[in-house]
Amino acid sequence: MSAEIFAVVNQFKSEIENAAPSTKEEVEQFRIRFVGSKNVLKPLFGEIRNVENERKKEYGQLVNAVKGAAEAKFQALKDAAESAAEEASSQDLDLSAPPEPMSLGAHHPITITMNRIVDIFSRIGFTVAEEREIEDDWHNFTAMNTPEDHPARDMQDTFYLKNSTEMLLRTHTSSVQSRVMMSQEPPIRIIAPGRVYRNETISARAHCQFHQVEGLYIDENVSFAEMKQTLLYFAQEMYGPDTKIRMRPSYFPFTEPSAEVDVTCFICDTKGCNVCKYTGWVEIMGCGMVDPAVLKNCGIDTEKYTGFAFGMGIERQAMMLYSINDIRLLFENDVRFLKQFTSAI
Ligand code: DAH
Repeated sequence: MSAEIFAVVNQFKSEIENAAPSTKEEVEQFRIRFVGSKNVLKPLFGEIRNVENERKKEYGQLVNAVKGAAEAKFQALKDAAESAAEEASSQDLDLSAPPEPMSLGAHHPITITMNRIVDIFSRIGFTVAEEREIEDDWHNFTAMNTPEDHPARDMQDTFYLKNSTEMLLRTHTSSVQSRVMMSQEPPIRIIAPGRVYRNETISARAHCQFHQVEGLYIDENVSFAEMKQTLLYFAQEMYGPDTKIRMRPSYFPFTEPSAEVDVTCFICDTKGCNVCKYTGWVEIMGCGMVDPAVLKNCGIDTEKYTGFAFGMGIERQAMMLYSINDIRLLFENDVRFLKQFTSAI
């Protein structure tokens, strides 16, 4: 009895070994016969009760091996069919077809504007200085000639860190001036782009975070005339060669004398428009000769050195350059808005 059952199993065994299905249909037939849910090997497991005790173990191992061989063969046939299909489809590739359009990223308008400003100043020897956004009171205010009881502190509403009267989010990039002066010997010629924070109500025209670029030049015999010429160069590079500048006397605690700089309106070319409010001029920055008190605070010899400084907001200029009417758009990161900007720098 046992011998007959063994013979049946061995027959399936050699059938499996010799099977060479080549078409999809033949593979499917193989699967149904040997691997599918109603395969021919299944009943063989039950036959073990008809095998004499001494050969039960041998029988069990044989049936399991045949089952394993069937599954392995089917898997191999399946893999071979899949890679053949892949190869066939890669032969369908048309390498001369135009590629899928690739969507390029774009720089943020703030980055574009900031890079332009940095680029213009680096051409005349200014190097970039970057500093911390979480600053201490001394570097942001006191060193910049704005001690605690100074009324000019009210010019900027400050975010202090929780439970601190000392640490704050810098309210202007002028804090970089004190950091640089404390760590470098003149001549100093730096440009400091970066983010600043003020406790302002957010509206179309104001935000609690924005960007500035600060400039500082300290050397022997630096004059107001030099500052004027430097800023004229900047304005003409930034807004066009026919741009003119004018300086209006102003007040900043860290400069004396101080001025605000206007440029001829680059939107309407002084004819009058709503960007320049029909005056023909737009204000772009504050500037002045570094107050000797600031130099002293930062350990610079005021007998030997003088300097000028300037600071400008980026958002306002980006908004004017790109006709953006709401500052909040610059902070929302809506790709439909951002995709409109492209630039080489
Ligand atoms: N820190 C000033 C502000 O935030 C801008 C400024 C004005 C910077 C005059 C300067 C400067 O360096 O000389 O409004």
